[in-house]
Amino acid sequence: MAQNRRYIIAKSDDGNILGFAGIIVNPDITEIMNIVVRKSYRQQGVGQKLLEELIRLAKKTGLETLDLEVNAMNFPAIHLYEKNGFEIIGRRSKYYHNINDAILMQKLL
Ligand SMILES: CC(C)(COP(=O)(O)OP(=O)(O)OC[C@H]1O[C@@H](n2cnc3c(N)ncnc32)[C@H](O)[C@@H]1OP(=O)(O)O)[C@@H](O)C(=O)NCCC(=O)NCCS
Repeated sequence: MAQNRRYIIAKSDDGNILGFAGIIVNPDITEIMNIVVRKSYRQQGVGQKLLEELIRLAKKTGLETLDLEVNAMNFPAIHLYEKNGFEIIGRRSKYYHNINDAILMQKLL
């Protein structure tokens, strides 16, 4: 199976785009690329809904895990992932702009 990128978009009832998210499905690994919610719509549950949909898509791949990398200073995102069953499995030193570490996280599907 070739690499396959999937994007989802969150919209309000009146059609405003609130955020988007994406995953890359490879034969041996599925990774979250990003989850982004518009600033004015944050902390209202949109990120949670986007992540739930990504997890649902990932479960369909038949793989046992869902992986991601996140900036070690990105506490909102790390909280969101931990709340949804992701665990820290590694760290890459000075990965972002040669300053911040990357945290590697994984969820068992
Ligand atoms: C991370 C992000 C997607 C969260 O989206 P959101 O819509 O605000 O999240 P939700 O309202 O669904 O919150 C779900 C959980 O996320 C965590 N969270 C969200 N904002 C938080 C904050 N400012 N501080 C700490 N935890 C936070 C909490 O665990 C929260 O659950 P709780 O409300 O029960 O505590 C959003 O902050 C964002 O777009 N950030 C910029 C892009 C980014 O860094 N993306 C992640 C890396 S790919």
